[in-house]
Amino acid sequence: MQVTVVGMGYVGLVAASCLAELGHHVICVDSDAGKVARLEAGEVPIHEAFLPELLAKHRGSRLTFHHSLAEGLRGSQIIFVAVGTPALDSGEADISAVEAVAVAMAPKLDSGFRLIVTKSTAPVYTCDYIRRVLRLNGVAEGTFEVACNPEFMREGSAITDFLFPDRIVLGCDSARAATMLRELYAPLLDGAYGRAAGSVASPAPGKVPELLVTTTRSAEIIKHASNAFLAMKISFINAVANICEAVGADIEEVRRGVGTDARIGRHFLQPGIGYGGSCFPKDLAAFSAVAKEHGYQFTLLDEVRAINAGQCRRFVQKLRAALWTFQSKRIGVLGLAFKNGTDDIRESPAMAVVEALLAEGAVVQAYDPAAMSRAAAVLPADKVTMVADPYAAADRADALLVLTEWDEFRSLDLQRVRERLRYPIIADGRNLLDPSAVRSAGFVYLSLGRRNEDSTQGLTTAALVQKA
Ligand code: UGA
Repeated sequence: MQVTVVGMGYVGLVAASCLAELGHHVICVDSDAGKVARLEAGEVPIHEAFLPELLAKHRGSRLTFHHSLAEGLRGSQIIFVAVGTPALDSGEADISAVEAVAVAMAPKLDSGFRLIVTKSTAPVYTCDYIRRVLRLNGVAEGTFEVACNPEFMREGSAITDFLFPDRIVLGCDSARAATMLRELYAPLLDGAYGRAAGSVASPAPGKVPELLVTTTRSAEIIKHASNAFLAMKISFINAVANICEAVGADIEEVRRGVGTDARIGRHFLQPGIGYGGSCFPKDLAAFSAVAKEHGYQFTLLDEVRAINAGQCRRFVQKLRAALWTFQSKRIGVLGLAFKNGTDDIRESPAMAVVEALLAEGAVVQAYDPAAMSRAAAVLPADKVTMVADPYAAADRADALLVLTEWDEFRSLDLQRVRERLRYPIIADGRNLLDPSAVRSAGFVYLSLGRRNEDSTQGLTTAALVQKA
């Protein structure tokens, strides 16, 4: 099939590359002419596994890039809208870019039936509004349909999430729309893609996604509710971790005990300095705003957000207790991205911790396998030095912090770290390291939700150093 994807952000670019990989001809459109030129020239704008390979494989053949919407719409029956829906100050989603695309495409939808599909995360009623805008701008009834096909990909594993999803949700208010989208996704639904030679490897070979055909409004709610539920799991386990810490229980034992109940599930129960990224914070605010607009106060979501905001503060407080004061301290930081596998620093809890340390007079030397150039562009160069590896981050530092759950931080050579650090203090904001290994290497180890015989409350740096 030939499809058009409007908006070459994270979701749009990944979706377009994967649809090309499924055998479709994909026309990619973006209003940013520079971005289009860079994509055409072979640039890969985001750090995402398999994306460079897919772009290289399909660019210029099944994947073409255009700046002009009119040109981009020619010949495509299915048009995905994947433009940004950032948060307004009120928390509501700013859907003006979606509206602008609908207005701009209206005069160009003059030949044959078109299915417009929202891929952007947008609040309930977005499909209804697009329909209305198209009608008001002269598109004849019966010549188009609007559907919602939410995307559940995670950054860092976006390509495999797209190609091997748990489910495919088709929010369609007509049988015709559902049939067209079923056909588009057929290679995933029948498993043919996973079996084909040269496919991206499936994380669960042989498994095919569940298909859910719903109304457009249900699909819109499914997307918001899914992200809200996942964020709620994280805040829940973080709150439990805080209790564990207070009573001397171990959150790692507790989360295994809780997560092995199949009704609860073990995923998204990893405690830490909180969730970040371009989705959860924005989507929770938007879902809360939508609920309010429609007469329901979803206060549970307010609590989820409050617990999340508190995680960074608690972590910084814990470190402050260990270091007494941050003034003139040199802090080594491992991880700046909002999570592993990505160079994205949007709403990154790691960046929030770094900023809090700088505000209190510390200087930082940071290492991240992917996010350093993005972080360097927004952090003050006189206070933050980006370094080449984890050991350089530890060099002469008063403490070493683990702020992003990159796998490579799990296997640090602790002895090497110890030799570099001025004070042997590791504060692990992701519970990534093995407490007994870290302690037997001679460190004071601060983590989350674990019995902590190195309880630092009231201890000075000197006392901690003596103890270590
Ligand atoms: C999230 C959802 O997981 C995707 O399903 C969804 O498609 C996407 O948002 C979106 O709406 O576009 P993403 O933001 O890429 O994906 O990242 P996640 O893997 O969900 O992680 C979000 C944050 O939660 C990260 O900061 C991560 O460190 C944190 N996290 C995750 C925890 O603190 N604990 C956990 O157990 C899991």
